[in-house]
Amino acid sequence: MYKVVTKRFLNDAKTICLFEIEAPYIARHARAGQFVIFRLDEQGERVPVSVAGYDREKGTVTVMVQAAGRTTKMLHTVEQGDYISDIAGPLGKATEMEGLKKVCVVGGGVGCAIAYPIAKEMHERGIEVTFIAGFRSADIVILKDELREVSDKLIICTDDGSYGKKGFTTVFLKQEIESNIIWSRPQFDRVIAIGPDIMMKFLADVTRPYGISTIISLDPIMVDGTGMCGCCRVIVGGETKFACVDGPDFDAHQVDFDSLIKRAAFYKEEQDEAAKHICHMTGGKRNG
Ligand code: FES
Repeated sequence: MYKVVTKRFLNDAKTICLFEIEAPYIARHARAGQFVIFRLDEQGERVPVSVAGYDREKGTVTVMVQAAGRTTKMLHTVEQGDYISDIAGPLGKATEMEGLKKVCVVGGGVGCAIAYPIAKEMHERGIEVTFIAGFRSADIVILKDELREVSDKLIICTDDGSYGKKGFTTVFLKQEIESNIIWSRPQFDRVIAIGPDIMMKFLADVTRPYGISTIISLDPIMVDGTGMCGCCRVIVGGETKFACVDGPDFDAHQVDFDSLIKRAAFYKEEQDEAAKHICHMTGGKRNG
């Protein structure tokens, strides 16, 4: 059993919640870009979430979770001092940062929670970080202060202009690339984009003509998280990869976004159907 030592909602809409959980082994080994899989109880669904932080001395790991399906909504009802059944990890490969000097990190919605520890580790290593954080509206903006602390330049934008600049991350990414070109050479060594699949697809389209290395972190449906079930497969450079062991980071210019988006839509329909199902064993709904 793993104790929740801190719980706090990160936005006014209370859609994203931070949990700091006692898990000394994970805390000792976790790196930015990796993820964990948790279960609320022994019969529970296995849900992957990115590592948003860790405290090696305290032995705690932090995750930031959006209430999207049934299990994540149930997690939001877990209180400080409560226990969850399992948390396994760290899983996946850590984000590669070697040799980078100037990076633009782009987060969309809850993707900012995943991008934050990456930007933080880069900042600590002396890499210059421009962070573009995009949200639908002011009530779901998260981590304003934390992002400011780890960024040399921070741009927050909302689709409706209710907080920060009005517009999409793609527009501001293009602006930043254009204003950082010297002698016809873009100055960003890398763009790291994390958010909805469709946003990452369009961000990849922005960076492609400039030839800027672009990495995205994928978050497909996962089951075992060990490369056994094949559930998290994605097509990268024409080859099948498993996000849980080969990723979650991949070269955005090599990812087959169309098949990724189609697959996610298929699972979304399945999940919506499952959410309607009343389980006669428990009297409750399953999945969703
Ligand atoms: S989650 Fe099963 S192969 Fe990745």
